[in-house]
Amino acid sequence: MIRCISCGEEYDDDEVIYTCDKCGSVLEIEPLDVDVGRDVFECRKDCLWRYKELIPVDSSMRVTLDEGGTPFVRCDKIGGELGVDLYVKVEGSNPTGSFKDRGMTVGVTKAVELGVDTVGCASTGNTSASLSAYAARAGLRCVVFLPSGKVALGKLAQAMFHGAEVISIDGNFDEALDAMTSLACERYLYLLNSINPYRLEGQKTIGYEIVQSLGWRSPDRVILPVGNAGNISAIWKGISEFYCLGFMDSKPMMTGIQAEGACPITNAFKRGSRDVVPVENPETIATAIRIGAPVSYAKAMNAIYDSDGCCESVSDEEILSAQKYLARNEGIGVEPASAASIAGLIKLRNEGLIDKGEEIVCVVTGHLLKDPNTAIDSCSKPKEVSSNIDDLKKLLVK
Ligand code: F0G
Repeated sequence: MIRCISCGEEYDDDEVIYTCDKCGSVLEIEPLDVDVGRDVFECRKDCLWRYKELIPVDSSMRVTLDEGGTPFVRCDKIGGELGVDLYVKVEGSNPTGSFKDRGMTVGVTKAVELGVDTVGCASTGNTSASLSAYAARAGLRCVVFLPSGKVALGKLAQAMFHGAEVISIDGNFDEALDAMTSLACERYLYLLNSINPYRLEGQKTIGYEIVQSLGWRSPDRVILPVGNAGNISAIWKGISEFYCLGFMDSKPMMTGIQAEGACPITNAFKRGSRDVVPVENPETIATAIRIGAPVSYAKAMNAIYDSDGCCESVSDEEILSAQKYLARNEGIGVEPASAASIAGLIKLRNEGLIDKGEEIVCVVTGHLLKDPNTAIDSCSKPKEVSSNIDDLKKLLVK
């Protein structure tokens, strides 16, 4: 059953619908009424579909690349310096290099169940890379709209290489998404942006995996970057479902981090409001989260307020510095948007808003190689030398 989060109107599972016909708000899938214990999941292979009883599509038809089951890495160096117990959930280890694969395995399976022939999305890059791959696997036509000149190279390469019809839109992500949504509402294609509630049914498994990795316990806090606000909503839904099933006895504070030039949710949170005023011309080096009008803002505000969490923003300088800090101290390479979660942790800890000794999971959402240009630009150039062994020895002298 699909349900409107605002007015409660219900829709059938097989209805192709993205927002509530009655009040225009966003939709979510009602949790399945299943009788399942933790032991069922424990003995299965570590991937997203180990939770198939809790995923509302026909798993026998699944379009999968073995996504999920990503590394959950304890980071004692950074954690020690900041005075917290830190784990990093490395979503860049998914098949196309971002957490979007979790949403797409479920969303594209739903597309196949519905019998559609064309899928589409607007994207800052990762969604398009992921959808292109899963659509290729399912044999569906795929159309993606990208904001012109603002998509990191790795992501663009993936979308093109997997055979999507890539259309560069003269406008930002918000404008591209408006256009894509209009076409979807006129049934030109099946929309696989995160406004489609089936996407979030895949992404909620990040929450499941965090809890299971900790031995069926919640951390004190989950920190993650926020753009269109689907992922924070999805992780909160997953964690809340496990809580309702009695799998653990507390829930984490959901902590969203935005880039300063694209932070409508932080602005709303700092006003103590749930009403998000769009940012007209969003701008940040973290192009993945260069979004001014997040479609899932209402769900995100619920996640933040209901969990006693918060939302903060960080500058591009803080993002780039956190990206390098994580790479050079823990060996984890992430794209700029993902480093926002580490930058946010540092900022909130320095401000005293995160307590000493908290157990924290930072979700890092995409791989370093998604945005090779930004990575190269923030390093000094390699030294050019001949292969003469004496010259090389001089370089290695400490
Ligand atoms: N991190 C990365 C690497 C992303 O690609 C995105 C979103 C986010 C964080 C934010 O997640 O939108 O659920 O709040 N990327 C989308 C895209 C918008 O088109 O790839 P969110």
